[in-house]
Amino acid sequence: MTDISNVARLSEPLKFAYWVPNVSGGLVVSTIEQRTGWDFDYNKKLARIAENSGFEYALTQTRYAASYGADKQHEATSFSLALLAATERLKVISAVHPGMWHPGVLAKFIITADHISNGRAAVNIVSGWLKDEFTNFGLEWLEHDERYVRTEEFIKVLRGLWTGQDYSQSGKYYNINNFTLNPAPVDVPGRAHPEIFFGGNSTAAQATAGRVADWYFSNGKDLEGFKENIAGVVAAADATGRGTEASLPSALSSPRFGLNGFVIARDSEKEARDTLREIVAKAHKPAVDGFRAAVQEAGPSTKDGKGMWADSSFEDLVQYNDGFKTQLIGTPEQIAERIVAYKKIGVNLFLTGYLHFQEEVAAFGADILPIVRELEADLARRSGTELDLSGTPAASASSTTGLVNA
Ligand SMILES: Cc1cc2nc3c(=O)[nH]c(=O)nc-3n(C[C@H](O)[C@H](O)[C@H](O)COP(=O)(O)O)c2cc1C
Repeated sequence: MTDISNVARLSEPLKFAYWVPNVSGGLVVSTIEQRTGWDFDYNKKLARIAENSGFEYALTQTRYAASYGADKQHEATSFSLALLAATERLKVISAVHPGMWHPGVLAKFIITADHISNGRAAVNIVSGWLKDEFTNFGLEWLEHDERYVRTEEFIKVLRGLWTGQDYSQSGKYYNINNFTLNPAPVDVPGRAHPEIFFGGNSTAAQATAGRVADWYFSNGKDLEGFKENIAGVVAAADATGRGTEASLPSALSSPRFGLNGFVIARDSEKEARDTLREIVAKAHKPAVDGFRAAVQEAGPSTKDGKGMWADSSFEDLVQYNDGFKTQLIGTPEQIAERIVAYKKIGVNLFLTGYLHFQEEVAAFGADILPIVRELEADLARRSGTELDLSGTPAASASSTTGLVNA
């Protein structure tokens, strides 16, 4: 099968995550109805629905100030810890900014969260785009590519402290001297330490993720666009000899790939497309335009002008992580087929967003996931292998709502 990338892992089932709505206003900057709460009670129920619907991960967002439809925000690490304590199987990935945290303090915090949750804590290292959050806190705002220099050192400190004794590292941003964290993270089979996700799209982001992250997370992308990102990450990973016999820490196997997508599943494709049209027609224009101005600090400010939001249209920016570009929009069958098309190019995990989180996460598990698993099993067989579902959370809850009405 020539259309299958050599980084695709056909025997590994796809993994699913959802964006934790820990900031107000939902995931689209639009006045369309969004039956999504940002408070803890809503999120606790959502997390339990998700882990019973076949979702393996939840990702919190880190924001400190009101911006673009997120007037109120709960802090990411404390919120993640509370969600871990409220669930049994869900892994909760907390977004964190180098520059806001010392990596040693974060490493210690996550070890405690890992013990409280019996090995379910993870981090998403994000290098930041809201300049005002840093400068108004009196923190230095580094130039785009320099942010990734700091991020790379930050991740090395995390991994070093999580896997080594008497760890030392000296660099431009951090100097760690002979430090041992006790206890170490929980010993989980198949996991060297709490997983390190990494969000970013630019050339610098891809290179950094390729060198040091466990997971590369991307904003929404079409198939061709994400192929390019994967190639960038793989090239950087290969240059370090990751996943080979080279002298890298054994903790560092080849990177995995996660992609953001906003899911609009409806009984007919027309209903789904109409919903997208309504989201965009009801967009909060001043907020979306403000967002466009703010993100000039990200992709568009890079040397090569590539990266996140560099080529995003007004419609794309209504979902601030470009989630419409992935086109998970249509009937459950259409969405499942699209998801498996991404698996063929190398995607391992989908990070999903919705208008009405509790209802639609349940509906995803009941209506879309079973089709995905069938298609994945079929793809694996046709490629001469078997889909290995052992260790993958099954959806035990059935959708009580059925597909959501727009
Ligand atoms: C999956 C994902 C999650 C992200 N979450 C956050 C977040 O919670 N807070 C934040 O400030 N930035 C977040 N970012 C944005 C990054 O901080 C960064 O600004 C963005 O990737 C743009 O950088 P780039 O142009 O180098 O790609 C996220 C990015 C991705 C891909």
